[in-house]
Amino acid sequence: MPFNAVVFDAYGTLFDVYSVQHLAEQLFAGKGAALALAWRDKQIEYTRLITQSDPNDKSGSRFYQPFWELTRRSLEYCLDRLKLDRTQGQAQALMGQYAKLSPFPENLDVLQRIKRHGLTTAILSNGSPQMLDSAVHSAGMADLLDHVISVDGIRLFKTAPQAYALVQQTIALPLEEILFVSSNSWDALGANWFGLRTHWVNRLGLPFEALEPRPDFSGADLRSVLDTLQISPN
Ligand code: LAC
Repeated sequence: MPFNAVVFDAYGTLFDVYSVQHLAEQLFAGKGAALALAWRDKQIEYTRLITQSDPNDKSGSRFYQPFWELTRRSLEYCLDRLKLDRTQGQAQALMGQYAKLSPFPENLDVLQRIKRHGLTTAILSNGSPQMLDSAVHSAGMADLLDHVISVDGIRLFKTAPQAYALVQQTIALPLEEILFVSSNSWDALGANWFGLRTHWVNRLGLPFEALEPRPDFSGADLRSVLDTLQISPN
């Protein structure tokens, strides 16, 4: 068995960040997809802006704000940008949805199979602990994950190497025994640059980033991780 632990990214990989588009469409007809897309992009842009502006401070970035707060602020920005008049209740409803994002349909079964095989499982996420806890519990994944690792303690977001270093600080295994799984190509690349072996879940059939290296493994949904781990899918 080549791997003894699997570490998943959370948002976009285990939880469907674009599932908010259905509620967004109900609230703002014709704008749901545009809002969901812009919201995710702005949220990630803020994480990069903050970490890049102060990447080395011993106690993390001076500009750090928890991911939940950046999620709220990026929503406000995108509603303004798309010129969508909203009540406070509508913004709150979208944030409420974000706290309980739908998992992708195959994920629970895949996690169960990996766990039955005896591998250590974890999340490494930019998400703040409370929002991760809420998402993990509402998706029924709490018993299937040995560790939920948040960057919140170091106040630096991925793709800072300090963020990926948290994996080995939590799971005492050599890097080559740990598989990092992400649907976000930038996250797979950052993990690879750090030295982890990576599996990219390419749900949308996108080209990989035009930067090297390419991920070690890839597939169209989370089921493909079972191939990489040589675990039977049936
Ligand atoms: C995560 C986001 C960035 O770290 O996908 O979970």
